Amino acid sequence: MYSKELKAIKKSNRFRERTLYDGNLIDLASNDYLGLSSKPQLLTRAVARVQIFKNHAPKASQVVNGYHQIHKDFEEFLCRHNGFEDAILAGSGFLANLALIEALPRKGDILILDEEYHASGILASKLVDTTVVTFEHNNPEKLEEILKNSSYKRAIIAVEGIYSMSGNLLKKEIFDIIDRYKNTILIVDEAHSSGVVGEKLLGVFELFGITPKPNHIKMGTLGKAYGSYGAYILASKHIVEFLQNRAKSLVYATAPSLIDIELAHQGMLYMMKHKKALHVEIKERQELVKKHFNVDMQGLIFAYEMESSEAVLDMQEKLKQKSFLVGAIRPPTVEKPILRIIPRVDVSLADLERLFNVYM
Ligand SMILES: Cc1ncc(COP(=O)(O)O)c(C=O)c1O
Repeated sequence: MYSKELKAIKKSNRFRERTLYDGNLIDLASNDYLGLSSKPQLLTRAVARVQIFKNHAPKASQVVNGYHQIHKDFEEFLCRHNGFEDAILAGSGFLANLALIEALPRKGDILILDEEYHASGILASKLVDTTVVTFEHNNPEKLEEILKNSSYKRAIIAVEGIYSMSGNLLKKEIFDIIDRYKNTILIVDEAHSSGVVGEKLLGVFELFGITPKPNHIKMGTLGKAYGSYGAYILASKHIVEFLQNRAKSLVYATAPSLIDIELAHQGMLYMMKHKKALHVEIKERQELVKKHFNVDMQGLIFAYEMESSEAVLDMQEKLKQKSFLVGAIRPPTVEKPILRIIPRVDVSLADLERLFNVYM
């Protein structure tokens, strides 16, 4: 029934597959930035904590009776460290973006997205019953132009801390612009910045020294640096109350998995305890990329642009033969094909040197 469509996808080298890769490959493709996904002690601790309770599964929506002490503890922990008033957990980052982007813009508002905002937000923006515009990627002047020239009840602006494909760091000026305009709400998706930047590795709010304000929202995912699965939204009490009443992916979904939330909590405790060593390891990898490619990698995403989708796939295969697994990201995910290389902290510097020196 879809053979014509599938043929077209294959012809343009955009066919995607679910592959079980050899576990011995050196993983430079995943978002497990700090290597937490393979620390057995974190899983042991998380399981032990969940076992204290009568139920190990959430059983219902968090606004029915699925809300659990494990959720509450992690929310309070996140608020305390990030300086936000309130928090609400979501089943995944995709669901968190769906919650924010679909629920917050109401009639008379304007939704303004960075043109490279994650696909989950772009999809959610199609469900919104108000004006939706995008602005040139990470360009504060273009954002300000839109704010200056539009009339709105509220302006909801969505950006990422570190952009998932290019690895670009959010421009701090965007926070300053939000401060200058009334009735603005800023959503910062920290999927790729939390766990990677900031003194306590909390993300860009911390990196830029921003004290959260009532119109700031921080979203973070647990499936990347935190070595688990799920997501959190940090905001004012007012906004969290609104989301828990209006955001369909929070209301009409089973509450987040208890084991995953506890695992993320343990991951974050580990991260904070080892933050000094982790910072050194992150910096060493950033310096290595600078030395070999003269690229200032702000987080741990190195986007290596290539001519064509075919070239990206060929290079990925060639590197796989040498035991390196990298991401081959092609349109429509990105405009230009890239090798997405994540110099994760549990990949040795010697292996990275070998990859950069010999094979690239
Ligand atoms: C920037 C960004 N936001 C949101 C998501 C979705 O998060 P999750 O994988 O937890 O659904 C991702 C990636 O998956 C992402 O890269």
